[in-house]
Amino acid sequence: MDKVTTEIIDFYESRYDEARRLDRRPQARLERIRTLELLREVLPAAPARILDVGGGPGAYARELIQDGHLVRLVDIVPAHVEQARTGAPPIDAVVGDARELPEPDGSYDATLLLGPLYHLQERADRVRAIREAIRVTRAGGPVAIAAIGRFAGPIDFAATGRFDHRTVAEARRLTGDGVNDTTIGFTEAYFHRVAELRDECREAGLPDATIHGVEGPAWPAAEAAQTGPAAAQIFDAALQLARVYSTEPDLVGVSAHLLVLGTKS
Ligand SMILES: C[S@@+](CC[C@H](N)C(=O)[O-])C[C@H]1O[C@@H](n2cnc3c(N)ncnc32)[C@H](O)[C@@H]1O
Repeated sequence: MDKVTTEIIDFYESRYDEARRLDRRPQARLERIRTLELLREVLPAAPARILDVGGGPGAYARELIQDGHLVRLVDIVPAHVEQARTGAPPIDAVVGDARELPEPDGSYDATLLLGPLYHLQERADRVRAIREAIRVTRAGGPVAIAAIGRFAGPIDFAATGRFDHRTVAEARRLTGDGVNDTTIGFTEAYFHRVAELRDECREAGLPDATIHGVEGPAWPAAEAAQTGPAAAQIFDAALQLARVYSTEPDLVGVSAHLLVLGTKS
């Protein structure tokens, strides 16, 4: 196993509780609501066979099972697979790598790749993971791919009062290469520009995908207001703006997450 993968497994198994991530903060709550509503717009009617690649402990898989779908989850972190299998409802989950999926061609009605892309630092690996997601999907089935936006980290630091001289330097550096500095936070990760994500999808075989900004332009306002008296009102406004500007080209890139929705030809 390569060094980057070993570090990612160690991060999720010993230093971070992914199972609680989507309930914790305004950004993550926006991410959950918007990702689910965008997925539900494109998923086939239940019961569809869905492969959730990089599904983690199963937050989205469980929602989709509750919608009546048949979900299989693949993740590279064994502890996530164990959490997916043992939670309620239990998920059919296996350890596997997005770059080499242990599934036959065309065997799913829809495939999700919500996580691996922002952990793969080599462009060739990211294109390979997207190709794999397309390969296992039947013709006409949707493929959904998540990435983290290039500017998410510094914006988050600004919104949550953690901005300092190091953040300015990091913001400048990130505009160049998009590779996360693990000494500042998170783990081995890559943050996309919108155009670059579109190129990677094109190269992998999704030429006409739509890219959504998941949290919208007002997510930092929701983060900054989270303990204030207007928290609920600002959260609601951020959610509504995220819907209005979901595919607005001038604003997509300021979201914390980008969501590609494409169709296997
Ligand atoms: C932040 S979590 C996202 C979990 C869930 N899909 C979501 O969107 O909330 C990223 C997930 O990608 C998984 N992952 C990272 N690299 C992977 C790879 N090469 N193959 C499969 N899973 C991978 C991680 O183990 C982790 O569970």
